Amino acid sequence: MSKYILVTGGAGYIGSHTVVQLINSGYRPVILDDFSNSTLEIVKGVEQITSTQVLVRKVNVCDINSTRAVFNEFHFEGVIHFAAFKAVGESVSEPNRYYRNNILGLLNILDLAEEFNVQNLVFSSSCTVYGSPKGNRVVTEETVLQDANSPYGNTKRIGERIISDFVNSKVNLKVLNLRYFNPVGAHESALIGELPAGKPNNLLPVVTQSAIGKFGPITVHGNDYSTVDGTCVRDYVHVVDVADAHVKAVEWLMEQEQSLEEHINIGTGKGTSVLEIINTFEQVSNVRLDWVFGPRRKGDVEEIFADASKAYDVLNWRAKKTVKDAVIDAWNWELKLKNG
Ligand code: UD1
Repeated sequence: MSKYILVTGGAGYIGSHTVVQLINSGYRPVILDDFSNSTLEIVKGVEQITSTQVLVRKVNVCDINSTRAVFNEFHFEGVIHFAAFKAVGESVSEPNRYYRNNILGLLNILDLAEEFNVQNLVFSSSCTVYGSPKGNRVVTEETVLQDANSPYGNTKRIGERIISDFVNSKVNLKVLNLRYFNPVGAHESALIGELPAGKPNNLLPVVTQSAIGKFGPITVHGNDYSTVDGTCVRDYVHVVDVADAHVKAVEWLMEQEQSLEEHINIGTGKGTSVLEIINTFEQVSNVRLDWVFGPRRKGDVEEIFADASKAYDVLNWRAKKTVKDAVIDAWNWELKLKNG
């Protein structure tokens, strides 16, 4: 019989792509989502891609009793915990909302995992825990962590710390903290993708929404960094590859006997500048972008990309798709949103 996997935030951007890959790999994911930052259309998209009826419970993970009811309903082999707020700027203006939601949600999942003896947990972390890396721009999991730039970043840093303390205090919990670099793109079917609430801040949604005419010129934040062309460099990783990493993470955890906690970078190992993204977009879409240089964005890291060798060594995972694939898929998704 297929194994049930709880996916909190499973209707979200990375969550929905992960649900698709779990179903394709023979699991029965159960989406727990409050739909504060997603819609049922995304679930319908997942159902269309997989030709499967998806199990969904509309529950806020901060409500422990409703979340417990879902743990009572299914026998979970593992939990993938995505449900969290993730807008950096918003977290600066509303820190208490971010701490309450992201930390309380995690504490509830840890309590319920213990209560129901669910031993396998994948936690959605971020390369934001590395802050601005000093010296080397390629970060391994051993790179010393820095203070986070925002309350959002802090919730990931503190979340990892809470998990460590939890694992150290009990037996029977195996955790992989996946530190994503910059997930981008959409499912190649264009049936699911990113749905940024309000005006986006992340680069690729800014590019595709500007190209489709939702707003005016793109501002490239800074052109005087010590990088290949003066603009910031990031490790953009296709969201379907990120989703695959979660399936591999759950499978690896299920094979482990002992309580443990590991951190794994999920990136491609390649850096791409802002201008390179803009050029790639223009090439693949045949749409000329309207963009201008603006000042540096506060808190931006100059250049960071993953040493992703641990993901390969431990999980046998490496990114298969390219930045170009991601740009094509993100554009098709934007066109689909426009044309319905
Ligand atoms: C941001 C967050 C990070 C979070 C990640 C995923 C910060 C400092 N970091 O990463 O914690 O995990 O999003 O949501 O906010 N850019 C422009 N013009 C734009 C938008 C972006 O030039 O209109 C540039 C940025 O300056 C940056 C690059 O594009 O150099 C990527 O930006 P973005 O997509 O926001 O990701 P990060 O800043 O890497």
